[in-house]
Formats: sequence, structure tokens, C-alpha cells
Amino acid sequence: MSQKDSFIQEMQSRYSYKNDKIVLGKAKFEGEIVEEVEIAIALKTMNRHGLIGGATGTGKTKSLQIIAEQLSLKSVPTLLMDIKGDLSGIGAAANASDKNAVDRMSALNLPFDPQASPVELLSISGEPGVRLRATVEDFGPILFSKILELNETQESIISIIFKYCEDKKLPLIDLEDIRRVLQYVTDSAVGKEELNSNYGTIAPASLGAILRKIVGLEQQGASKFFGEPSFDVQDLLKIEDGKGIVNIIRLVDIQNQPNLFSTFMLSLLNKIYSEFPEAGDSDKPKLVIFIDEAHLIFKEATKALLSQIETMVKLIRSKGVGLYFVTQVPGDVPDAVLSQLGLKIQHALRGFTAKDRKEITKAIENYPTTTYYKADEVITQLGIGEAFVTALDEKGIPTPLAYTYMRAPNSRMDVLTNEEINSIVSNSSLVKKYDQNIDRQTANEILSQELEQQKNIEKPVSRTTSSRSAPREQDWTDNKMVRDVSRTATRKLIDWGMKILMNVLKGKK
Ligand SMILES: Nc1ncnc2c1ncn2[C@@H]1O[C@H](COP(=O)(O)OP(=O)(O)OP(=O)(O)O)[C@@H](O)[C@H]1O
Ligand SMILES: [Mg+2]
Repeated sequence: MSQKDSFIQEMQSRYSYKNDKIVLGKAKFEGEIVEEVEIAIALKTMNRHGLIGGATGTGKTKSLQIIAEQLSLKSVPTLLMDIKGDLSGIGAAANASDKNAVDRMSALNLPFDPQASPVELLSISGEPGVRLRATVEDFGPILFSKILELNETQESIISIIFKYCEDKKLPLIDLEDIRRVLQYVTDSAVGKEELNSNYGTIAPASLGAILRKIVGLEQQGASKFFGEPSFDVQDLLKIEDGKGIVNIIRLVDIQNQPNLFSTFMLSLLNKIYSEFPEAGDSDKPKLVIFIDEAHLIFKEATKALLSQIETMVKLIRSKGVGLYFVTQVPGDVPDAVLSQLGLKIQHALRGFTAKDRKEITKAIENYPTTTYYKADEVITQLGIGEAFVTALDEKGIPTPLAYTYMRAPNSRMDVLTNEEINSIVSNSSLVKKYDQNIDRQTANEILSQELEQQKNIEKPVSRTTSSRSAPREQDWTDNKMVRDVSRTATRKLIDWGMKILMNVLKGKK
């Protein structure tokens, strides 16, 4: 048997699946497209995560587009983190006379069937689309502490503050709320007394340190996504006329704030993880998330965030959620994450510098060995829209490395126009749902009122205007409503459990 025949035989047997698949393209051997060898991935394994890598302009984003649009056709919703603002085109059909796409599909002998995928546009800032927000309570004390990079003692204080707010029925919605609570228990005699007698003494210096971290987070612009109504992640699972919705989060405006981006990512993953049921052994994923320009979430993320992300990548698979990282250099993704990725689509890497060549060696080491290609040479010579592919078959075994000529997307390779975006946004029921403002009393207002009452009824509360305190956006006493002060005064419920916990935590340090 010639080498080409044995290549065809092996590839055909290893890249054919019993159940549904996503077609990437066809294999190339000795520089030629081999029509008989289709390179596809098993739909069932799409919760096993993946990497789409390659130098700039090599076709990573188009590969993402090809997979996402086919997932939609298989009724699998997706979530696309659109950092560069170049993914919206998936919501429109490709131009049927696009020469690039037509030539590519005819070279592959595959049908070119221009069509749009149903999309929902989401935003965490002022961009048009569904407003994505989360409450401080959604984050919970542990994740919130991680985001603030708190040490162990400070983390235990945050847990106590959350418990204090829960007991005192103070809704923690936005950063202003948590900031106000910290100020209240630091500066108000009543607040200080409530906290110390019920939960143990907390040093004002520690509260001040946490406060400063919150101000730092606000300065990064995090206030944008703390608020109500909080996004219900079930809304990502919509299916329309049998097609999975492609949810595109437009993140163009936070690409210069990598820490904020990783915080946001993690909070979303955390919510998905905690709210989705276990998926068991399913024939397709429930949701697939693509993170374009993924180096942004890893590059400047704190150690604590990184370890949270690693843990989340491990766990979220069981919920039927696949995560796909799209990045220029595979080395941008931490080894602990890289080792968990089942699919690898590696576009060309450039070996200009010694560091580049190191990256190439590292990338090759992560692939199954091959006798059909000189992988270290070919990887630098792959053309645009060509990639080395290795996936997991239905049994979870890695498929052989395949030099793949990728198919073209059926959706538009260019972005949507402003008119098209406006039309999607104005027809979206989700946009309306999340545009509503929830008018209710949260920690900030409640405590402002309590302070007002304390000022009026009790002797004036001395407020130390510590230089460590956050700048006040409004005077605490600037309030209209009057509430029953006895609620505060008599609120001396001793939570022994929390006291014991506090002592244990203090003993630890
Ligand atoms: N599968 C494909 N089918 C047709 N054209 C493609 C394909 N892949 C890439 N191209 C062509 O190459 C161009 C660049 O591709 P793409 O935007 O996907 O690169 P990229 O790797 O994401 O680049 P960057 O790192 O700058 O984001 C596309 O605009 C398109 O013209
Ligand atoms: Mg790209």
C-alpha cells in the first residue's frame, strides 16, 4: 500500500463517527487536498474543551465561526466572547458570490450554502444589546474575595460581611452597596457595635484595606456589570426554529482591562456552573463557549483568578459546557488548562525569534506524533484557513494529527452593519427584559436611612473621616425616608456559629 493509501485508510477510519459531527474541512497530504478524507469532530465530545491557535490573520476566528454556525444547526446554543468586534457576521448569510468562499468550497467539493445563524447580542457596557449584569450577592463571598485579591483573613471578613448583610436583610447588589456596608460598620457606632458583638471584633484597618480594594475595582470600570436585573444564564440556552442561538458578547471596550475581563468571565462561568444541572453522558453539549483573544484572560489575571479558572475548566465539563480558547500562541494558555483541552486546531505559527521557535516545539509536543508530516516544518508553512487538527473521537481517544484545509463559513465573514445590529437589538425580547430597572431598596439606601435616624434620634454618631475611606458620592444623611430605628437598636441576634467560625479563622492566621 502506498503511503497515501495508508494515510487515507487511517484518517478515514479515525475521523468517522457513529453520531453527529461538525465538519471542519478535508485533509491535505503532500500539499494536495484529499477529497476522500473529511476532517470532522464528534459533537458528543464538544464538552471536552479546545484550543484554536495560530499567528495573526491565519484563520482562527473563521474556524470559530465554522464551528459555532454548525453547532447552531445542531440545536446547540453558543456563547461567543467577541473581544475585537469581528464576530457579528455570523448573524448574516455569506455573500453567495464571495470568491474566496466559493473557490474554497469547490476545492473541497463541499456544498456552499450561505445562511445566517440566529444571534443575540449582549453587552456589559453601553454597547447595544442585552445588558449583562450580576449582583455582588451572585458572586458570593469567596469569588468576590478572589476578584479583590484578598488574603485569607480579609476573605474571612468578607464572609462575615456577607453573613451580616444576610442577617440584617441588606441586599448586596452593586459595589456601592458593599462599600456602604463596610463604611457603616467602620464609621457608625451602631454598625460597629452590631458587627463586633454579633460576629467578633474586626480591625478597622482590615475593613479599610478591603474598602480600598473595592475602590480599585471600581476604578477599573467594574461598576458597569454589578447591578440588577442580574443575568439569568438559562437565557443563553435558547433555541429558535430548531437552531441554537449564537450569543455574542461584545467586549470591545474592555480589551484594555484584562483583569476585569477575567473577572467577568469567571463570574459567568461560576454562575453557569452553579445553575446548570449535571449533564451526564449526553450526545451533544448543552452550551459551547468560545473565548476569542483568550490570552487576555490569562496574561494579567491574578494567581487566585487563574487557579479559579483552572478549577472551573475542570468542573464545567460535567455540566455539558465546552470551552474553546482562541489565541495566537498556545503558550498563552496555562499548562493546567492546556492539558484539559480535547480539540486542537492549530493554524500557522511563525518562527521568527528563538521564543517563537520554543513555542513551536512546545505546540508540537502537545500533538500526537505523526509519520505523515514533518510537523515542526509544516506548522510554519500552513496557509491561511489551514490548520493542524487533533480531536477526541467518540471514545475519548485523540485522533491522528491532520493537516486540514478548513471549509468556509456559511455566514458572512465581515461584520454586521449598524442597521443590522439595530434591527437585531430592537427585535430582541431579552433586550427588553434586561433593560428594565429594578427599583428596590438595597444596602446602600437602607444604611443611609439608618444613619439618618441615628443622627436624629440618638446622639450624633461621630464619623471619622479616615483618609482610607472611599470617596463619598453622596452624603449618607441625604435621605428622605424615615425608618424605625428600633430595628437596628434591638437587632442583637447573636450568631454563635459565625462567632465560632470567626475565632477559628483568626486562630488560623
Ligand atoms: N476557513 C476560511 N475560509 C475562508 N476564508 C478564510 C478562512 N480562514 C481564514 N480566511 C481568510 O483569512 C482572513 C483572516 O482570518 P481570521 O480573521 O479568522 O484570522 P485570525 O487568525 O482570527 O486573525 P487575528 O489574529 O488577527 O484575529 C479572513 O478574513 C478570511 O479572508
Ligand atoms: Mg481573530
